[in-house]
Amino acid sequence: MADKIGILGSGDVGRALATGFARHGWDVLVGTRSPDELAAWAEEAGVAAGSFADAAGYGDVAVLAVRGDAVEDVLDLAGAERFTGTLVLDATNPLDFSTGDAHLLFGGTDSLGERVQATLADAYVVKCFNTVSNAQMVDPEFEAETPPMFICGDHTDAKAKTAEILADLGWPEVRDVGDIRSARYLEALVPLWVRLAGDLETYGHAFTVVQ
Ligand SMILES: NC(=O)c1ccc[n+]([C@@H]2O[C@H](COP(=O)([O-])OP(=O)(O)OC[C@H]3O[C@@H](n4cnc5c(N)ncnc54)[C@H](OP(=O)(O)O)[C@@H]3O)[C@@H](O)[C@H]2O)c1
Repeated sequence: MADKIGILGSGDVGRALATGFARHGWDVLVGTRSPDELAAWAEEAGVAAGSFADAAGYGDVAVLAVRGDAVEDVLDLAGAERFTGTLVLDATNPLDFSTGDAHLLFGGTDSLGERVQATLADAYVVKCFNTVSNAQMVDPEFEAETPPMFICGDHTDAKAKTAEILADLGWPEVRDVGDIRSARYLEALVPLWVRLAGDLETYGHAFTVVQ
């Protein structure tokens, strides 16, 4: 699978996904507020660096991988109109670490996934990647059987395309947990995931479903 993808975010997630997608043959542009500062890393990684707006308009697929409390500002900077018709893989979580532990900035009857879809009304938003470590997002390796990647979204075709992409990135199973409102539950898993990381002394863990 070789295509163009714009990744909004230059942190651990943006970089891990950029190098991972590039390794799988994708033509990648990483968006940031400071493209000049990212240029040396991007050259070494074999990807392009640009603004958030450049990343939004780069391909038919985009990833949103920025701090949860910056999502609204980043979408403003990028321009919602640049996402028209784009499959947007939303990896973000509304987390606040200011108290030392991770807690949700909001949730229950709301989520970043829903807010992103509402802001990008002409895009196809699929919540994806948010429940695993950046190191496991592409070509995941677990000591136990690889768990499913949880996704949700309102658009059936977008979720089918996402499943194809995930298969190409090494995910043997995708678990579609429903429409974009299910982002409430995928995001709510993450404070527990962070809490467990302390006990397990690793971020290499993930949730699965057994019957
Ligand atoms: N770390 C993980 O393993 C992991 C796993 C699953 C999901 N996530 C989620 O993925 C997202 C990204 O996480 P991360 O660990 O890569 O790093 P992060 O520190 O949460 O996000 C870094 C990105 O956020 C942008 N940003 C921060 N403050 C901003 C502001 N005030 N205005 C505009 N942009 C701002 C940065 O922009 P610049 O590029 O301009 O600096 C950078 O691109 C988060 O929502 C996180 O919850 C993380």
